[in-house]
This record gives sequence, structure tokens and C-alpha cells, in this order.
Amino acid sequence: MMANEVFETIRTVLAVREYQDRELPRDVVRRIVDAAHLTASSANSQPWHFVLVRDRESLRKLGSLVRTGRYAAEAGAAVIVAYEKDRASGVSDASRAIQSMILTAWADGVGSNWTGFGAMETVRERFGLPDSYDVLAVVPFGYPRRKLGLGKKNRKPFDQVVSSERFGTPLNA
Ligand SMILES: Cc1cc2nc3c(=O)[nH]c(=O)nc-3n(C[C@H](O)[C@H](O)[C@H](O)COP(=O)(O)O)c2cc1C
Repeated sequence: MMANEVFETIRTVLAVREYQDRELPRDVVRRIVDAAHLTASSANSQPWHFVLVRDRESLRKLGSLVRTGRYAAEAGAAVIVAYEKDRASGVSDASRAIQSMILTAWADGVGSNWTGFGAMETVRERFGLPDSYDVLAVVPFGYPRRKLGLGKKNRKPFDQVVSSERFGTPLNA
């Protein structure tokens, strides 16, 4: 089969939680937020807001607020992803934008990860988002400190999560 860059990106991307102390080029960061902006959403409603954070003190603050994402403190940048909380599709739409950013970053050699849970309300307030929004995630970005993502994934067996025509029939039966 012909090479498919999108699939290769998906095959190799991994959660990156340790970053080099190296600045991210402005155009690379811009492309990451462009990817979020260009993502599709339900009825094209775009019920989201993305706050790009590059200031070191603010990144440290994010690291201190997000219990499961302390490492944002050492990232080159982070994006706070929020959605209009009265939109039923908000979580789905914003999730898709997060995936767009993670894959775009990885294709430029930049690692990232979805971090969330806990203190999201504090993040919202600290970064000036109106209370009509909920913060879904903080996504830190940076050049990976270690070589990662060579296609080794820890995943359930394919046939456990994929069926053909009807639940439980393996694709290659
Ligand atoms: C919805 C969602 C929430 C996540 N939240 C966190 C988090 O708070 N902290 C963290 O370190 N990783 C978080 N992750 C990363 C996952 O733990 C990671 O992607 C998963 O274990 C698979 O590992 P891999 O991406 O390296 O293949 C999250 C991932 C998703 C999709």
C-alpha cells in the first residue's frame, strides 16, 4: 500500500510528558492552533475557545493547577481547550479539535498530551474564560525529551474492539 502520512502520524504518536528545554518555532505553534480553528464541529457551531499559553510563569501555573498534568510547567506551550457548556456537542467538538492539534504537532516532531480532570474551573477563571465555558483539557506541547512513538502501542487486541457486520464477529474470520 502507498504510504499515508496521516495514518503514520496516528500509528506513531504517543502521549509525551517530558519535554526538551527548547523553544517551539512560532510557525509550528501557529499551525497547531490553526489545526484547532479549522476542525469540524456539529452543525459547524464551533462552540469552543482555545487559549494559547507560552509565558513560562503561566505554564508553571497550569502545571500547578492540573494534578494529572504537572509537566505543563516544562512545556514550550500549552493550549487550554474550552467549550460552551450549554452546547450538547461541546465535548465532542472540542475533543476533535484536540486530536487535530496533537496530530499536527506530532507531524512536526512536537509531542503533546491531553491533560485534564481536576481544577478545570480554576484554570478557567485564572485565564479569564467567561463562565459560559467549561475547560475540557490543557494540552501541553514540546519537543520530546526521549525518543518515543515508534509505533509501539499498548492497546487491547484488535478483535476485542473491532467487529465485522455484527458485534463479536472478527474482521478476519
Ligand atoms: C480523554 C483523555 C484524557 C487524558 N488525560 C490525561 C491526563 O490527565 N494526564 C495524562 O498524563 N495523560 C492523560 N491522557 C493520556 C492517556 O493516558 C494516553 O494517551 C493513553 O494512556 C495511551 O497512551 P499513548 O497515547 O502513549 O498511546 C488522556 C488521554 C485522553 C484521550
